[in-house]
Amino acid sequence: MNVKEKILKNKLPLHIAIIMDGNGRWAKKKGNRRIFGHKSGVKAVKETVEAAGEIGIKYLTLYAFSTENWNRPKVEVDALMSLFISAVKNETENLIKNNVRMKAIGNLETLPNSVLENLNEIIDKTKDNTGLTLILALSYSSRQEITNAVTKITKKITSGEISIENINEEIISDHLYTNEFPDPELLIRTSGEFRISNFLLWQISYSELYFTDTLWPDFSKEDFFNAVYNFQQRERRFGKTSEQLPDKK
Ligand code: FPP
Repeated sequence: MNVKEKILKNKLPLHIAIIMDGNGRWAKKKGNRRIFGHKSGVKAVKETVEAAGEIGIKYLTLYAFSTENWNRPKVEVDALMSLFISAVKNETENLIKNNVRMKAIGNLETLPNSVLENLNEIIDKTKDNTGLTLILALSYSSRQEITNAVTKITKKITSGEISIENINEEIISDHLYTNEFPDPELLIRTSGEFRISNFLLWQISYSELYFTDTLWPDFSKEDFFNAVYNFQQRERRFGKTSEQLPDKK
């Protein structure tokens, strides 16, 4: 039986987040420029979106560009921005056809206008779709997101809209970029690095973490299904004991 067939439909993670890493190393190994790795990474994005749709995942967040990535050489940043535009343009019809709803999180105002316009267009065109919600993290920093939330909440306290006594975890979640999405249940990172790199720090409090040595451009549907299957083998206790879990009674 292949791994896809072993996946239990009633135990799927609702939301999967992925740190797509290793494009540069993949290209270098092949004696190519880093940009070639990013271009090949687009294919892995397509495979992954398709795979998520095939098994009925509801939310998929992809870490495409961090605020720290602005510090890369200008030629690489420019190439990535062009790649985002072309990928969005080339995939619009496909996403619509497959009922995918596109969303974006991050400090989006810092993106070049051309990227932002294309992004807003696809978000608008797919807004009524009811299948997979594909969330691109662009110019994203989790610490910045949390700092932003603190600022917004403080303003509301100052204006009397909310009182200090009312602050709870829900209010904080409601002021993050991700306020309309559930927290990821599974976080995948490729390329053999064991880091979170400023990604969804608040939201992954209870996420299962899955690390694979595969470099992002090589990440296939099979790799995605392996991660989901691995997730399903784990016991998620949320601080309780094994015996307290519902299916152990
Ligand atoms: C990390 O690899 C990857 C990125 C910073 C860019 C991710 C972009 C893509 C996969 C391309 C297109 C994406 C979309 C959503 C259309 P790295 O460059 O840090 O690799 P390295 O660690 O080997 O240097």
